[in-house]
Formats: sequence, C-alpha cells, structure tokens
Amino acid sequence: MFALSEQDLAGKILGCGDGPASFNSEATRRGGYVTSIDPIYHFTAQDIDDRIHETFDIVLQQVQDNYDDYVWDTIRSVKDLGETRMASMQMFLDDYDQGKRDRRYLPASLPEVPFEDGSFDLALCSHLLFLYSDRLSFDVHQQALESMMRVAYEVRVFPLLQLDGLRSPYLDPLWAWFQSQGWRASIERVSYEFQRGGHDMLRLCRS
Ligand SMILES: C[S@@+](CC[C@H](N)C(=O)[O-])C[C@H]1O[C@@H](n2cnc3c(N)ncnc32)[C@H](O)[C@@H]1O
Repeated sequence: MFALSEQDLAGKILGCGDGPASFNSEATRRGGYVTSIDPIYHFTAQDIDDRIHETFDIVLQQVQDNYDDYVWDTIRSVKDLGETRMASMQMFLDDYDQGKRDRRYLPASLPEVPFEDGSFDLALCSHLLFLYSDRLSFDVHQQALESMMRVAYEVRVFPLLQLDGLRSPYLDPLWAWFQSQGWRASIERVSYEFQRGGHDMLRLCRS
C-alpha cells in the first residue's frame, strides 16, 4: 500500500487510523518504531475482539455482494479474505495490551495528532482519508494532512478512491493547497490493489 522500503521501516513511523490491523505488531517484532493512533484504542482488547466478531460476517457479505469491485489475485476468494483479515486482527489483539503499555497504541482522532512537531519521519494513513470522503469533510481532510505534515517529514495516504470506486473529489482542490504550503506532492502507483482501481498512493514531502 505504501511502497515501504527497508529505510522507511527503519525510521519513526506514525500510523493514523491503524485500527485492529497488524502493521504495528509486525513492524515492532522486526525491530521497527511504530506508533498508531485510532479512536478505537479507547476500548479494551475484549471490546475490540467482540466488535470484530460482530462485524466479521457483515463485512465479508458486503464484499461478496460487490465481488467484481475487487481484484482477486493476491487474495483469491472471500474465504481467503476472511482468513487473512482474521489473522491480521488476531496479531493486533495479541499485541494490544503490551502495545498500550508501550504507548504504541494511543487513542486519538484525526484531524488532531497529539505529538510535537517533527516527531516522526513518516506518517501513514490507509483506508480512512479519501476513502470516507462522504463522512469526513474537506476541512477535516485538510486539517488532518496539515497535522500529519506537522509531526512528520513525509506523509503517505492510500487509497485515493472513495468506497464507490470514484476518486475522492477532495484531491484536486487539495492539490493547489499542497503547492501553497511548499510541499512536494505526488501520486504514485503501488503494487497493492484490492479495491479495483485503488492502486495509487499520495506522497507529501517537505521541499
Ligand atoms: C477501514 S479502517 C482501516 C484500518 C487500517 N488503517 C487498515 O488499512 O486496515 C478505518 C479506521 O479508521 C479509524 N478512524 C475513524 N475515524 C478516525 C479519525 N477521525 N481519526 C483516526 N482514525 C479514525 C476507525 O476506528 C478504523 O479503525
């Protein structure tokens, strides 16, 4: 999703809206430094586990109902998707209590990012900004990206499509604003594509 290199993974990384996913756990295990923020980290592991099980079949049914909107090469089937998701979420749950003690999982909601300026090399956001353009306003997107760029040297966001498969209408108006901030902005094709056509990542860097 983010075209992460070994050099990227050696830096200090902030994951925004990381949810019950395994990135933090896996990166930590290989010696990385990742901090994740998400409002669900207000909840206990048991609460999150319960919620995962409540929504598991609903999420898979939604994907089954829209089967042709997805690319089935790496993930081969809906059953495979379910197993992959559950394995990732279990890895998260197994790591959650220790990660909270280590302050790797912190409850916070974009557009607020509760860190000092320049605390991270890289800030990431997957499957939240742009994807949920119908629920998060243009202003929230702008403020969230500003906050992420305040705390990190570089920001990457994936994907740039909304849930309906169309590119977020916020990208074009944000582009002029990126230039006005003096940031280098690029859209790069990455190797991961599950939502059909969702293979592009936004990269923002300080000039
Ligand atoms: C679809 S999940 C994506 C999880 C993970 N990034 C991934 O790609 O698998 C969206 C996540 O965004 C979180 N979220 C919702 N509103 C948020 C906000 N304002 N700031 C940060 N995270 C938020 C949700 O709790 C959820 O965990």
